[in-house]
Amino acid sequence: MARMNERVKEMLAAKKTIILATSTSDGEPNVVPIHSKNIIDDETILISNQFMGKTLANLRANPKVAITFWDKIEGYQIKGDCTYETSGKLYEETAAFVEAYGKSINYPLSSKGILLIKITAIYNVSPGPHAGEKIA
Ligand SMILES: Cc1cc2nc3c(=O)[nH]c(=O)nc-3n(C[C@H](O)[C@H](O)[C@H](O)COP(=O)(O)O)c2cc1C
Repeated sequence: MARMNERVKEMLAAKKTIILATSTSDGEPNVVPIHSKNIIDDETILISNQFMGKTLANLRANPKVAITFWDKIEGYQIKGDCTYETSGKLYEETAAFVEAYGKSINYPLSSKGILLIKITAIYNVSPGPHAGEKIA
């Protein structure tokens, strides 16, 4: 496992949208934008499934995911192993939050399940001399 430092957590928490990549078991990539995410602890990220199609099918066949997010020219790439849960305290809390958020924007939203991503590696993707460096 790898741990997010304070800067990575700060940026991940602040970004409205992040990018989630999955792939089929035979390597066909898929990438989607994601709003509903949360930091569980230094090595775990939660993403809520409202609309996933190919993403969820991919996860069931291949739990390896990658996430990226950036602000101006500072960016990070996180790799991890994903499990999927449709019950339990974290799911119930997420479902309540997503539903309330949907109401607040007058757009019905319902969480079908949660992705729990255990971080295996973190890379700097900012352009410049440190691009691609592993930081955790
Ligand atoms: C800005 C934005 C934010 C989104 N956030 C989420 C999200 O938090 N959860 C989710 O399940 N889908 C979200 N979606 C929808 C997914 O990006 C995507 O449409 C869905 O996973 C279906 O694509 P797939 O079949 O490749 O999985 C969002 C889409 C956009 C444009």
